[in-house]
Amino acid sequence: MVVTVIGLGFVGLTSALGFAELGHKVYGMEVNEERLASIAAGRLPFLEPGLDAALSRHLGKNFFPSRSMAEAVRESEAVYFCVGTPYGENGQADLTFLFEALRQVLACGRDGRFRVLVTKSTVPPGTTAKRVTPFVASLGFEPGKDTGVACNPEFLREGHCWEDFIHADRIVLGVSDARSKALLCELYRGMTCPVFCVSPNTAEYIKYLSNTLLATLISWSNEMSLAADAFGDIDTAQAFRILHKDHRWGGCEMASYAYPGCGYGGYCLPKDTNALCAAAGNAGYEPRILKNVIAVNDAMPEAMAARIIKTAGVDSNICIGILGLSFKPGSDDVRDAPPAKIIAALNRAGYRNILAFDPVVGESGFRACHKNLSLRCAGSLEEVLTEAGVLALTTAWPEFLELRMKTEKPVVDCRYALKPSVKAV
Ligand SMILES: NC(=O)c1ccc[n+]([C@@H]2O[C@H](COP(=O)([O-])OP(=O)(O)OC[C@H]3O[C@@H](n4cnc5c(N)ncnc54)[C@H](O)[C@@H]3O)[C@@H](O)[C@H]2O)c1
Repeated sequence: MVVTVIGLGFVGLTSALGFAELGHKVYGMEVNEERLASIAAGRLPFLEPGLDAALSRHLGKNFFPSRSMAEAVRESEAVYFCVGTPYGENGQADLTFLFEALRQVLACGRDGRFRVLVTKSTVPPGTTAKRVTPFVASLGFEPGKDTGVACNPEFLREGHCWEDFIHADRIVLGVSDARSKALLCELYRGMTCPVFCVSPNTAEYIKYLSNTLLATLISWSNEMSLAADAFGDIDTAQAFRILHKDHRWGGCEMASYAYPGCGYGGYCLPKDTNALCAAAGNAGYEPRILKNVIAVNDAMPEAMAARIIKTAGVDSNICIGILGLSFKPGSDDVRDAPPAKIIAALNRAGYRNILAFDPVVGESGFRACHKNLSLRCAGSLEEVLTEAGVLALTTAWPEFLELRMKTEKPVVDCRYALKPSVKAV
């Protein structure tokens, strides 16, 4: 098959290379010139293990970064939309990029050939049926007849994009016409995991079930950690690690979300939890649990800053070492990352002498996302250990976990990652 992928970010580039790996010919469109040039030169624009090898395997063979939308679309049987769906008004998903990309694709005209337009971006339930389909019809196309409209949510995790795409646990296709269903089943024919064909609303909803459950587990864990602080004399990390020994977890990775830290962050969980909350409210149901999941998460940076300040003392000139700037280890993504929110809370409290270090995030990459924070970035962990009076572990990079062996300075473990693992006695 021939496929066009619009938007070559984490999801788009992974999908494009994944489809190429499955033997299809793939065109990739990207508006960010710097990102497109980097991909066209065979360089990944972000840290993502395994994706670099896939890019060198397929670039110029069956993956073609392109500037000509019309040429790519005309040749394609499926067009995938992998653009951002960021925070919009009142927490709703902002679908501006999606509709702009749809408009561009549909402006390529009609050639009598059926092709399916597939939203892979995360969009609230109802988007495909109630917004995309009428939009396509409003431009003179006949959804289900000359043009298919479908969705195919993505479940990959940043830091594991390639392995999660190639070894997906399930593929969810939101389809409402037989030709789109047949085309998309053909597209994924090389995959061994189950493929579920459901209504577009159900497919969109499944994606939010997944992300809001993760957010809920994290906020519940964080709330329990704050309650533990209030009780006092509780080793919270030890308590959670023992919780995970429950056979019903089955040793699964899901347990890692039922663990405290400094709040969920990154591109997806914060915006998707807010978007589902807003969408449910608009649909007439006020979600009570999700509102509090968000409230607990929003309170975490202040709670962590208060813990750091308690350790640092009243002298606000003290140098505070922040260890970790990405939203999780294994990723250089700093979008909505908790460390930035903790630094902002420290700055607001008058603590502006912040020295940060992250193994992969440099100062320019961090500042591109977080402009007005008072901080300096160090070139090494050792520099921070020497200069800082107090340290805060904000991203659980493996190189930070032995911190207690490297310094006697006070460390605030915002990730509950430094404690030795529990041994049964
Ligand atoms: N990042 C994740 O872990 C993840 C996982 C599952 C789902 N998602 C969802 O997938 C979507 C994309 O996420 P992402 O992290 O890949 O975002 P991203 O910001 O990394 O990538 C989106 C890309 O689309 C490009 N773009 C926007 N409009 C365009 C247009 N008209 N033509 C061509 N390119 C255009 C942007 O320049 C950007 O490079 C979002 O809806 C997100 O919620 C993300």
